[in-house]
Amino acid sequence: MRIGIVAESAVGETRVSATPSTVRQLLKLGYEVVVQTGAGSPSSYPDVGYTAAGGRIVDKNTAWGSDVVLSVNAPGDDELSLLASGATLVSWLGPGLNPEMVEKLVALPITALSVDTVPRISRAQTMDVLSSTANIAGYRAVIEAANEFGRFFTGQVTAAGKVPPAKVLVAGAGVAGLAAIGAASALGAIVRATDPRPEVADQVRSIGGTYLAVEVDVEQSSDGYAKATSADFDAAAARLYAAQATDVDIIITTANIPGRRAPVLITSEDVASMRSGSVIVDLAAANGGNVEGTVPGEKTLTSNGVTIIGYTDLARRLPAQASQLYGQNLVNLLTLLTPGKDGNLVLDLDDVIQRAITVARNGERLYPPPPVSVSAAPSTVAVQTQAPTPQNRSFSAGARGALIAVGLAALLALVSFAPPPLPQHFTVLILAIVIGFYVIGKVHHALHTPLMSVTNAISGVVVVGAMLQLAIDNPVTRIIGGVAVLLVSINIFGGFAVTRRMLGMFRKD
Ligand code: NAI
Repeated sequence: MRIGIVAESAVGETRVSATPSTVRQLLKLGYEVVVQTGAGSPSSYPDVGYTAAGGRIVDKNTAWGSDVVLSVNAPGDDELSLLASGATLVSWLGPGLNPEMVEKLVALPITALSVDTVPRISRAQTMDVLSSTANIAGYRAVIEAANEFGRFFTGQVTAAGKVPPAKVLVAGAGVAGLAAIGAASALGAIVRATDPRPEVADQVRSIGGTYLAVEVDVEQSSDGYAKATSADFDAAAARLYAAQATDVDIIITTANIPGRRAPVLITSEDVASMRSGSVIVDLAAANGGNVEGTVPGEKTLTSNGVTIIGYTDLARRLPAQASQLYGQNLVNLLTLLTPGKDGNLVLDLDDVIQRAITVARNGERLYPPPPVSVSAAPSTVAVQTQAPTPQNRSFSAGARGALIAVGLAALLALVSFAPPPLPQHFTVLILAIVIGFYVIGKVHHALHTPLMSVTNAISGVVVVGAMLQLAIDNPVTRIIGGVAVLLVSINIFGGFAVTRRMLGMFRKD
């Protein structure tokens, strides 16, 4: 079968549905690949790159007349008319928001697959274009904010004075929110984040943010997402936002409840209380906005000097990356649709993913699909911290208990049978091991090096023994004692100096 990569005709579109690297992968699945001339130019993928990858550059009619057509946006009427009978269209069709398009597709003798309706289940994560796009949007939101903000994100100590780090609040810690938290903390800002789902707290912390909890319970839907919040929750959250607005420099809002208008989180009073020069990026602008005063697609400046960014094309602003991730999602989807790796697309409507994306097939309307009854948490871009399961929790508790029991038994045996002063020395050793185990276990990994240097300094307690030798009336003993005091002092002062320097690296103010 022939796959056609078409040039996007939507106004402002900069992405393309395949890059040279994804074309290579489509060829490995057994397809012939043709690319409409100039399709990749807006995202910096010239025709020559596709040719080198094994694709063939063709005109618009040939690309649209392929057996399988890959595009980013839903086709226009003239493009629909170019589709061949029996063709498969794979595109971001947005059937929920675009019922007219569904009607047009049902009227054609084609199969229409909408990649934005891939269910958020773990098996489908590699095909999830919504997550790929939200990830890019979260990152880009930080870049847009940094571009508008007239200051550094990171704190600095310069010859001309001290620069405080920027404070960033991220509201909503889903895919876009986590990407924004990661990007803002990588730039050196102090990042706080809030979300009604308390289970995201670990993910927020693992990428450098501080989780701000709203201490009111929220009911969760079966798919792991937050449901609409209660009036009590909203009142408590409003207090949190009001307090944060007067303190932070940047607010990035990403709160979203699938199938509903975006909740309003930041009121015009909150905006009015922010310092001049502050920046808000409202990712939910296209869906009603999380911020009062957001204009979708626009950047506005309030009377008190706060910039509100409501861009709805954040992924388009990183076209090369966005095309690569979108194209890779499509390759992963086509791998599922090509079980024989023989260039033949086979649609299996018994498969939950394939059923969920099929909008129409040869005149049959298949949208909306039956609900996917699989419980899933949103995929994340963050490094995930694994919560202990009851099994591994009880295993580690058991292992620790056994270790302590063995230590105590060894101590008891030594105290009972060894000649003095061995029992006393072993008692100290075993107690030191137990205490060391608990102390180190409670310290965060990142602080282990400073901890080692401070224990190094403390180990300098042997200086007491060396000093006692100085009192002995024997020149050789005194010389050796003096050298010992000198060496141990280096250990003590060096250890404390290194600790101080390393801890300073963790201090942001
Ligand atoms: P997501 O569904 O993964 O995350 C949304 C998060 O909002 C969830 O963690 C949810 O618990 C949280 N949330 C729900 N109600 C909340 C409340 N009242 N207060 C605080 N948090 C709340 O969604 P994703 O994929 O991260 O997308 C986020 C938003 O970004 C969506 O509105 C999406 O349409 C938008 N978006 C915008 C783009 C642009 O160019 N502007 C591009 C891509 C996505």
